[in-house]
Amino acid sequence: MDYILYEVKGAVGIITINREKALNALNTSILSELDEALDAVDLAEIRCLILTGAGEKSFVAGADISEMSTLTKAEGEAFGRRGNEVFRRIETFPIPVIAAVGGFALGGGCEIAMSCDIRLCSETAIFGQPEVELGITPGFGGTQRLARLVGAGMAKQMIFTGRNGNIKADEAYRIGLVNAVYPAGELMEAAEKMANVIAKNAPIAVRNAKKAINDGLDVDVATGLVVEEKMFGDCFETYDQTEGMNAFLEKRKVEAFLNR
Ligand code: CAA
Repeated sequence: MDYILYEVKGAVGIITINREKALNALNTSILSELDEALDAVDLAEIRCLILTGAGEKSFVAGADISEMSTLTKAEGEAFGRRGNEVFRRIETFPIPVIAAVGGFALGGGCEIAMSCDIRLCSETAIFGQPEVELGITPGFGGTQRLARLVGAGMAKQMIFTGRNGNIKADEAYRIGLVNAVYPAGELMEAAEKMANVIAKNAPIAVRNAKKAINDGLDVDVATGLVVEEKMFGDCFETYDQTEGMNAFLEKRKVEAFLNR
């Protein structure tokens, strides 16, 4: 792959978008390579992913503007569909994905971060959906996920005002767009620490909890509770449920969760 680095550290996989000279802007090749990187994740071993961008200046500065500049209506729609497919795959990937955001997370960069389960950022992070200044709407899920994460009013303000609506890390934290803010030099360490905490927990339970939360958000509460019951029931009779509960009852630490 030309633009994606994939590194395994124990049970944590780290995907890095590596196109630093264009501030990691997303072109068609990167979208395909992201798909390939997800294919390469060994779900028998890896229990949490971190998604980040190369360099300290930018996480992802958006979709590639030069590539988009000559698209027809139909090609624009297809480009949006392609981005949405890949980002939806991240959102519904069986294991948790943590976005580690340093520097610019604009347009498609904010959108890919929002398709992750958890967003951690550095003090230098800047989030925004400046697309209307380019004559387009957000196209990789921004109109949908931003409104769900921070409410329609704040999402509309950020999107309608373009660059003026870009926000710094502290404001992103205040409105709930990110879970935590770290000094730039400490971001990856913090992301890896959280990923390792997640990786140590019972994998089937973590996966089922992700699915229950995601699927529940798409339906009414009563239907969501049925989804939860299924995911909850599915954990029983697993080795990890037996070990987790026996360890508690026997007042000892879990020896290891085995993902079965
Ligand atoms: N697409 C293509 N190239 C990009 C890019 C993008 N989104 N963002 C940055 N680059 C390139 C620049 O063209 C420049 O390349 P050259 O060195 O070859 O000229 C290089 O990255 C460095 O960028 P700048 O010189 O502009 O760096 P800066 O520090 O002066 O500014 C910035 C940084 C404010 C992030 C500025 O680059 C910028 O505004 N980028 C575009 C941000 C944007 O509008 N993002 C939304 C894109 S549309 C979108 O994402 C649609 C969607 O929803 C799917």
